Parts: sequence; structure tokens; C-alpha cells
Amino acid sequence: MLSSNIASSSLFLSAICLTLLIVETKSQLSSTFYDSTCPNASTIVGGVLQQALQSDVRIGASLIRLHFHDCFVDGCDGSILLDNSANIQSEKDAGPNTNSTRGFDVVDNIKTALENSCPGIVSCADILALAAQASVSLQGGPSWSVRLGRRDSLTANQAGANSSIPSPFESLTNITAKFTAVGLNTNDLVALSGAHTFGRAQCRLFSNRLYNFSGTGNPDPTLASSYRATLQQTCPQSGSGFNVANLDPTTPDSFDNNYFTNLVNNQGLLQSDQELFSTNGAPTISIVNTFSSNQTAFFQSFAQSMINMGNISPLTGSSGEIRSDCKKVNGS
Ligand code: HEM
Ligand SMILES: *[C@@H]1O[C@H](CO)[C@@H](O)[C@H](O)[C@H]1NC(C)=O
Ligand SMILES: *[C@@H]1O[C@H](CO)[C@@H](O)[C@H](O)[C@H]1NC(C)=O
Ligand SMILES: *[C@@H]1O[C@H](CO)[C@@H](O)[C@H](O)[C@H]1NC(C)=O
Ligand SMILES: *[C@@H]1O[C@H](CO)[C@@H](O)[C@H](O)[C@H]1NC(C)=O
Ligand SMILES: *[C@@H]1O[C@H](CO)[C@@H](O)[C@H](O)[C@H]1NC(C)=O
Ligand SMILES: *[C@@H]1O[C@H](CO)[C@@H](O)[C@H](O)[C@H]1NC(C)=O
Repeated sequence: MLSSNIASSSLFLSAICLTLLIVETKSQLSSTFYDSTCPNASTIVGGVLQQALQSDVRIGASLIRLHFHDCFVDGCDGSILLDNSANIQSEKDAGPNTNSTRGFDVVDNIKTALENSCPGIVSCADILALAAQASVSLQGGPSWSVRLGRRDSLTANQAGANSSIPSPFESLTNITAKFTAVGLNTNDLVALSGAHTFGRAQCRLFSNRLYNFSGTGNPDPTLASSYRATLQQTCPQSGSGFNVANLDPTTPDSFDNNYFTNLVNNQGLLQSDQELFSTNGAPTISIVNTFSSNQTAFFQSFAQSMINMGNISPLTGSSGEIRSDCKKVNGS
């Protein structure tokens, strides 16, 4: 009896050790990473962002999207920020990014401010993670303590950006697979999609839903007809595909749970948005219902899922480098 107790408790202890080991190898980042080397890093990022928001209310949305598109391609390593050069085929020219991602000039301004205070310390990958958090809290969303210590890549992966970033025309099954491929689950997918509570999307990325959906000759039946009429004003059939509409027609520039109440009312802008609620039998439906009726539940999940996304394959230790200019590899 006694010896079996000892045996089972030592088994229990080694299970704990194993769990700790797994947790430790999974997240090498830390919320105190710059506490001694650049204690004001987060304040500096927030200050530049606040300034930028005064002339462009959309900029916070654009910056959190950069963090997402960075993390999904070989991890959160600042690779999306590199410009074309002799050795770099820029991710900026990948299908999901070209004529679409924005905010690179603000990233450069943040980098300059940080280099002035603490030269050579804060990575460009961490700038994106900090700017994403500041964007959400400045627009009324939750705060969380950003895990830091990522280093910057020496390479970009344009082909990876083409294949790994979800498209708004994809099925829920395919989008779920892209999240699973980077270690994110269905709850993360629904929570993180809630970032479409602010920002804009171009007509070319959803106007097929307004006129001729999947070659049926009819609009998407999961799009509310009154909302469709409004969108047809912004996106006439023969108009410019570069016109933009608010991703959240209810409260376009606030970070809140209206994205989810929109979905419940068939007012998701992108096909990929509405699929979360309108795909028959999907596991995402009940999560959308929860978030649409409980903003606290959404905010809690969103904060945790942002930490999960920020943990995707970071470069740490002596891998990569701290770029002094986010647009290029040091010394190039
Ligand atoms: C689930 C799969 C997703 C798809 C298919 C998707 C697709 C899109 C598309 C097509 C746009 C419009 C781009 C344009 O018009 O140029 C967009 C904008 C945006 N996305 Fe997503 N997205 C997804 C997930 C996410 C995630 C995980 C985040 C962040 C956590 C995010 C944040 C944003 C934001 C904030 C905007 C507005 C950007 C701006 O106004 O500049 N998206 N997304
Ligand atoms: C950090 O910010 C505080 C006030 O927020 C300021 O007093 C201090 O000088 C700043 N430190 C550096 C290194 O910029
Ligand atoms: C980007 O937009 C410009 C016009 O603004 C257009 O000439 C170019 O073909 C577009 N590129 C892509 C890949 O859509
Ligand atoms: C990625 O997609 C873009 C636009 O669709 C294309 O121009 C580019 O050649 C692709 N790059 C790679 C490496 O596949
Ligand atoms: C889903 O992915 C499969 C395999 O990659 C592809 O053949 C198919 O076209 C995709 N479907 C949609 C709707 O995106
Ligand atoms: C809708 O698209 C399909 C396939 O692209 C096309 O054959 C059809 O003529 C279009 N219908 C209308 C009404 O434009
Ligand atoms: C809303 O969600 C929070 C966080 O999950 C939970 O504590 C709370 O009980 C929920 N409220 C309601 C009314 O269900």
C-alpha cells in the first residue's frame, strides 16, 4: 500500500516535471524580457501608435494584421517587414499582402523611437506583437501582457506567405487546417477572427458575394439582403475593386464583440467571416454564439489566443538578429 503510494506519487511528480518541461520548451518568450534593457519599450510603442491614430483611425487594425501575417509564415520573426533585395523575395509581394498590407511606415517610426531610447535591443518581431496589443487596447479592447524576446529573421518566405495565410474565399475546413498547421485550434480561430471588429476590406475580396456567388448568378444566400444593398453602393459591379468597406458595419473603429453579433445577423463581410456561423454543423457556431452574447468571454479568449499566436515558432537566444532597420537584414 505504502510502496504503491510512493510509486504513484513519484509517477505523479515526474508527470509534473514533464509538463513543466513541455511548457518551458513551448514558450521561450517572457513578459519581462526588456525590463532591464528597455523598460519603456511598451510605452514608446503605444506613444507612436497613438500619434499615428490621430491621422489614420485604421492604422491599429493594419498593424495587428501585420503581426498575424508575420506569425503564420515561419513564425513571428519579422520576416514580413523585409523589402526585396538581392537575397530577399519580399513577403510584401505575396498574394495575401500585395496591395493590401499597410502600416510599414509606422513600424519604421516605432523602430526609430526605440533605437533612440535603447539602441539594438528591441526586435522588429516584438514591435509587431507590442503594436498589436496597443492597437487593441487603444480602440477599447482587452489588455494582456505581451510575451517578448523574439528575434528577427535573416530571410523571407514569399512562397510560404502565398500558401500559409488563409484566403477569404476558402472553406472553413481549409482555414481550420491552416490554423491547425501553426498549432492554433478552433477556439483560437473564432477568437482571432474577432479582430475583424475593426479595419477595412477591399471590394475585390468580397464582391463576388454581392452579385454572382460561386457562379450561381445569385448573391451569397448567407448575406443579409439589406446589408448587401448597402455594400452594393460601395462596390458597384463595374466599380473599382480597391474601394473599401468597414469589416464591422456596426462600430467600424471600436474593438468590441459586434463582429460576432453581425455574424449572427448574417452581416459578416467576408465569406470566411460568415462561414464561422453559417457552415452547417460547424464547431465554430456555438463559439460565435457565446462571444456574441458575452463580450467578456470574447475579450478573455482573444487575449489568450493572441498570446498563442505570438508564440508561433519564435527565433530566440542567438538565432536570427535584432535588426536595426526593420526593412533589411543588418549589414545588407
Ligand atoms: C481567419 C482567417 C482570416 C482571413 C481569411 C482574413 C482575411 C482578411 C482580408 C481579406 C482582409 C481585407 C484585406 C484588404 O482588403 O486589403 C482582412 C483584413 C483584416 N484582418 Fe483578417 N483574415 C483572417 C484572420 C485574421 C486574424 C487572425 C487577424 C488578427 C488577429 C486579422 C486581422 C485583420 C484586420 C485588423 C484587418 C483590417 C486591416 C486594415 O484595415 O488595414 N485577420 N483580413
Ligand atoms: C521611461 O519613462 C519614464 C516616464 O514614463 C521616464 O521618466 C524615463 O526617463 C524613461 N526612461 C527612458 C530610458 O526613456
Ligand atoms: C496592385 O494595384 C495596382 C493599381 O493600384 C495594379 O496596377 C496592380 O496590378 C495591383 N497588383 C496586384 C498584384 O493586384
Ligand atoms: C506568390 O504569389 C504572387 C501573387 O499571387 C506571385 O506573383 C508570386 O510569384 C508568388 N511567389 C511565389 C514564390 O510563389
Ligand atoms: C481546400 O484545399 C484543397 C486542398 O489544398 C484545395 O484543393 C481546395 O481548392 C480548397 N478549397 C477551397 C474552397 O478553398
Ligand atoms: C456567373 O458566373 C458564372 C461562372 O463564372 C457565369 O457562367 C455566369 O454567366 C455568371 N452569371 C451572371 C448572371 O453574371
Ligand atoms: C461571460 O463570460 C465570462 C468569462 O468566461 C464568465 O465568467 C461569465 O460568467 C459569463 N457571463 C455570462 C452572463 O454568461
